[in-house]
Amino acid sequence: MSYKNIYKNYIMVIDFGSQYSQLIVKRIREIGVYCELFASKYAKKLISKFKPSGIILSGGPDSVTRFNSVKIPDFIFSIDVPILGICYGMQAIVVQLGGTVNRSIRSEFGCTKLKILSKSKLINGFRNDSLLYTNYNLVNVWMSHTDQVSSIPHGFKKIASTKNCPYAVIENINRKIYGLQFHPEVTHTINGNIIFKNFVVNICKCKLLWSPFKIIDQIVSDIRDTVGNNKVILGLSGGVDSLVTAILLQKALGNKLICIFVDSGILCIRDIIRIISKLKEKYKLNVISINAEKKFFKYLSGVTDPELKRKIIGHVFAEIFNNELKKDKDIKWLAQGTIYSDVIESISILNNNNYFIKSHHNVGGLPKNMFFNLIEPLKLFFKDEVRTIGLKLKIPYDMIYRHPFPGPGLAIRILGEVKKSYCLLLSQANDIFIEELHRYGFYKKVSQAFVVFLPIRSVGIMGDIRKYTWVVSLRAVLTKDFMTAEYVKLPYFLLDCVSRRIINEVDGISRVVYDITSKPPATIEWE
Ligand code: XMP
Repeated sequence: MSYKNIYKNYIMVIDFGSQYSQLIVKRIREIGVYCELFASKYAKKLISKFKPSGIILSGGPDSVTRFNSVKIPDFIFSIDVPILGICYGMQAIVVQLGGTVNRSIRSEFGCTKLKILSKSKLINGFRNDSLLYTNYNLVNVWMSHTDQVSSIPHGFKKIASTKNCPYAVIENINRKIYGLQFHPEVTHTINGNIIFKNFVVNICKCKLLWSPFKIIDQIVSDIRDTVGNNKVILGLSGGVDSLVTAILLQKALGNKLICIFVDSGILCIRDIIRIISKLKEKYKLNVISINAEKKFFKYLSGVTDPELKRKIIGHVFAEIFNNELKKDKDIKWLAQGTIYSDVIESISILNNNNYFIKSHHNVGGLPKNMFFNLIEPLKLFFKDEVRTIGLKLKIPYDMIYRHPFPGPGLAIRILGEVKKSYCLLLSQANDIFIEELHRYGFYKKVSQAFVVFLPIRSVGIMGDIRKYTWVVSLRAVLTKDFMTAEYVKLPYFLLDCVSRRIINEVDGISRVVYDITSKPPATIEWE
């Protein structure tokens, strides 16, 4: 099969700003069909370009009961392509086709039971666990809405309801338009994947052609086409994204790739130096190391706002790369290990800051006046897809499954102002935590673990001597996609051991706490 064929069937998700929109894309790709997310204002142009086999309309924070709410572009209803509206997406379908939506008296959040009233291709083959203990045809679904459909447009049929929501699944079989009030993309909806598979395979008639295993040749050839004979520089952080990017670029460009490792002073340096030297040795990568510690601390001095810190770090990195570029006129490109989640989370798609979470430095933070072109070979891939590509490239498992380390480094794990002394304390504490997780076999069981520095001092006593030093918090989360995450219930003996070691070995920390907040409502990083 030619690699181009894997994109033959294509599902387009139109984003209305839901925090779960990218999960929809992930679920569809996991089924084996290529899928991308777009803002509705680009829909017309992109639909004629990509000719999707199906369109999914995401949820979102807006309300169709609001004058001037975000609309589905009308032409979408006149093209003969199946449509699935989720939450806001369904409500917008209903209102625009002549039904009604009202603010409900009671919001519905979390898991609820769906009662199936009629057969539909969309919900065919449901696993019906709850039938074991109830007489009703009930299944668990995950809801998050305040508005709800109160009457459906002509030609639509009610398929399922919940206690508080009369129209939880609707369909217009002739026009192939479907609506769900709940969120099939969230793992708590037990049959979510069955719904997506039914939509994509049975309704949109897509073949399962796409897999990250099959796209290395295409990425490599795209890089060659884009870059031509020019040289490329890549910032190597030691993380999986920049590592996989480096190996792909090297495959495409050989010695035209120059990797730059910037010691920003805000890294867990011991670990990263080990990785960088392994990379030089194993892949013969051309790596230039630059010590820019002073520069970073100078620019970050006195800055406490998290967003400003991210922006500054992006600017300093860009300045360093600009300087390197000027040294060699054949370098025309800057490569970055940006992945799809970075892109999606950084763009406030509705251009409304209320819907904005945080800017990932390698997307939002780069200045506009850069002297180079940007190439981001992984920017359409999710983390687990990047890992699959990495394994296919034969990068060692331990490097591929290292916990993610954010681009802005320790700067977003030190609350408020970033100081070198804080970084040193934090790195030591972090090394201890990671060492103990490895020792007790927990490193691979958690998705991400790290220590956060809290700039507050607390009284302690050690060997009859009063201490008045800093507090750190341990954080360990379990997640599939980093969009939602559960804090890990680490055993007390492990927490106890880490806490004792930090207090005894790191002079300057007098208290250790454990963060027991999940995402949402918290984010994984503290800033
Ligand atoms: P949050 O804190 O948004 O983190 O729940 C989700 C995942 O993204 C990582 N993260 C970043 N990665 N640049 C990155 O490369 C960034 O600016 C950034 N901010 C957060 C975070 O470590 C977690 O894995």
